Amino acid sequence: MSKTLFRFGVSIPEDLIGKFDRLIEKRGYANRSEAIRDLIRDALVQETVGAPNATVMGALTLVYSHHTHDLGERLTEMQHRDYAATVSTLHVHLDRDNCLEVVILKGRASRVKKIADKLISMRGVKHGKLTLTTA
Ligand code: NI
Repeated sequence: MSKTLFRFGVSIPEDLIGKFDRLIEKRGYANRSEAIRDLIRDALVQETVGAPNATVMGALTLVYSHHTHDLGERLTEMQHRDYAATVSTLHVHLDRDNCLEVVILKGRASRVKKIADKLISMRGVKHGKLTLTTA
């Protein structure tokens, strides 16, 4: 991989750079360059995972009621049905009433999104969020 650094100038309104500097300080960036590199990488990853045929990794976070009749079993059943795309699952008993599950999915972007939508839309799931990334 090339380690040559390319330098470029950017024209930006003063109020916008002020807000940006406050944001990156809050997030712990050492300088603007590192923050801008991360923004560029994220934009490139989002572009890649937006293509239906791209191979992606997905982290699906689900929060659901522990009391909804057999929901846990149905979620597991659906992951068995798509076993080839389900890499791993982490289950946390959040409190007396709620469970948190993080499902790691792998495969074509369109398939990963479809599986995630199926799981998120199940009755009893209170919150679901899929984050896609690539290597
Ligand atoms: Ni639980």
